[in-house]
Amino acid sequence: MPSADPLQEIEDLREQLDAWNHQYYVLDDPSVPDVEYDRSMLRLQQLEQQYPQFQRPDSPSQRVGATPLQQFSQVSHEVPMLSLENAFNQDDMLNFNRRLLDRLGDGAASLEFACEPKLDGIAVSLLYRDGVLERGATRGDGSTGEDITHNVRTIRSIPLRLRGEGIPHLLEVRGEIYMPKAGFEQLNNRARERGEKTFVNPRNAAAGSLRQLDARVTAERPLEMCCYSVGLVEGGTLPDRQASMLQRLSEWGFRINPESAVVQGIEGCNAYYDELALRRNSLAYDIDGIVFKVNEFALQERLGFVSRAPRWAIARKFPAQEELTRLLDVEFQVGRTGAITPVARLEPVFVGGVTVSNATLHNSDEIDRLGIQIGDTVIVRRAGDVIPQIVTVVLEKRPDNTRVIRFPTQCPVCQSAIEREEGEAAWRCMGGLVCGAQQKAAIKHFVSRRAMDIDGLGDKLVEQLVEEGLVENVAGLYALTKEQLLNLERMGEKSADNLLAALQASKQTTLPRFIFALGIREVGEATALNLARHFGSWPELVSATEEQLLQVDDVGPVVADHLRQFFDSDASMAVVKALQDAGVSWPDIERLPQRDLPLAEQVWVVTGKLEALSRDEAKARLQSLGAKVAGSVSAKTTCVVAGPAAGSKLAKANELGVEVIDEESLLALLATHGVEL
Ligand code: IVH
Repeated sequence: MPSADPLQEIEDLREQLDAWNHQYYVLDDPSVPDVEYDRSMLRLQQLEQQYPQFQRPDSPSQRVGATPLQQFSQVSHEVPMLSLENAFNQDDMLNFNRRLLDRLGDGAASLEFACEPKLDGIAVSLLYRDGVLERGATRGDGSTGEDITHNVRTIRSIPLRLRGEGIPHLLEVRGEIYMPKAGFEQLNNRARERGEKTFVNPRNAAAGSLRQLDARVTAERPLEMCCYSVGLVEGGTLPDRQASMLQRLSEWGFRINPESAVVQGIEGCNAYYDELALRRNSLAYDIDGIVFKVNEFALQERLGFVSRAPRWAIARKFPAQEELTRLLDVEFQVGRTGAITPVARLEPVFVGGVTVSNATLHNSDEIDRLGIQIGDTVIVRRAGDVIPQIVTVVLEKRPDNTRVIRFPTQCPVCQSAIEREEGEAAWRCMGGLVCGAQQKAAIKHFVSRRAMDIDGLGDKLVEQLVEEGLVENVAGLYALTKEQLLNLERMGEKSADNLLAALQASKQTTLPRFIFALGIREVGEATALNLARHFGSWPELVSATEEQLLQVDDVGPVVADHLRQFFDSDASMAVVKALQDAGVSWPDIERLPQRDLPLAEQVWVVTGKLEALSRDEAKARLQSLGAKVAGSVSAKTTCVVAGPAAGSKLAKANELGVEVIDEESLLALLATHGVEL
């Protein structure tokens, strides 16, 4: 479409797109639908192509350069980029305060401090000439860095052109480029799916993304920037305090950290630290501490610098979430369904607030991916509610005598063959109920509280019963005699009577509990409940075809297949018959279609630590009310239940404006719908 006044239209489009960008990436407050944005961008690109004389480097269409660089060139920082002194505890903070007050002399009783989260990313400098981005550079060694202009231009929270009044002729703004946790997880998940190398942590991912000669790669990475100081300023003035300076930067279009605050005295600093330490894991990005700065620039000037750090600022560090330790051994555990899981035994290490001595290695692919050997030094990471993970091997520290991890070629417990189904990550023992490990696990599951709820049958006793050959499968439990029990070590008359009574009492059960107790692969509590509600009785369920099973909510082809296999197995059905012969029974239940449940069509996510329920129990309760429970938060999420120490999922929910409730509200909701705990 020709334009009456192309230059005017181009300028209008640029202004509009800049404003939308700013709202979306700097203020986190999107104001137009994506299609609208895309339409305007397309129109601008068309016009710029048609009228090349109107092209400009600060146009919003010019973020991603098409030709990769040959190499990075060096940039020298006219005003050096300094580092910060660290504080690790309150004493360090008190000393810092005393030094400040001593230097400033009398009259200085209590100082005003600007408090800012210390983002864990890459420090960069951005140079603007007459409000237009001219150059972006890394900190490097503080005096010389690398020119990464082509890459910083791709980051949408970095303005290409500044807005507002009073912009200095030359303005160098400094800050941190980082990758939010949610984006980091997505990036790594995608890499894992493609069998590519993953990044150790968000900081490394940000660094790797900026060290790209091809800006098209950087443009694909979820990077953001928060600004925290200025370097060179010419032909203009700035406010006289750190906090008001940040405010001014924000007016000019930069993103600043919304958690920043001004406090009085070192007590204020400590309170700020304590408060943010509690919320650290629920922020959308990693922080490794808090930076405290004397707020008044005039006082900063009087305090000056020591070597490469200012006297007027300090970084109080949080306890580390990553630590080095050593892999002592790998053990292979056989689960209820025969899946073989390698478990890393680690030299105990204090990380993320707890002592960690085990970590799962998931499966054999993970061992290959990490290239890990026994005796290796590894980095363990534990952040928030995330289970400890081995993120990488430190190859430089590999001793000569490491041992290769040999994945077993047969079941480590029963020596049966192991197999891996196509498309599955786990190797499984094919021994089924011949396998002692699977026997024990199946019985432990059967007697557990949410299944048959048999009191007095702890893990140790189950292991003893299987090892002594008294019980081979769950039906065997009901054939136990008092005499057999009394022959067991540490079993008294009273315990034996109690156990027999508990076994007797468990025979009256419910259909959902019974289905769940059988331990059919992938049939959890919620699926068991759905199956029971759908079919109403055991004979109806057992005779259901695969198609009929697929009608049940939550049952996909995989689960339907596991169910059919169980019902078609003579051995499994013999156990069921033996249970019924022993007197295990349940009433039929009323059929209830899924769509009539109170939380039908809703998607819930459960994260963090819960007190009254485990996360799995909470999940099952929600599913029993018809909700879908997802593993990650998206725009489709109805509600997130967050306990203390919730991490990136809570952050994502806050980012997307999804409703978040605590455990207490969840319990209230469950009670309203008459769900038993
Ligand atoms: S001020 C002279 N403020 O911490 C002031 N630094 O150890 C120097 N950092 O290289 C920096 N957040 O990468 C400052 N709000 C913040 C910061 C921050 C993160 C990083 C920055 C710097 C390092 C200093």
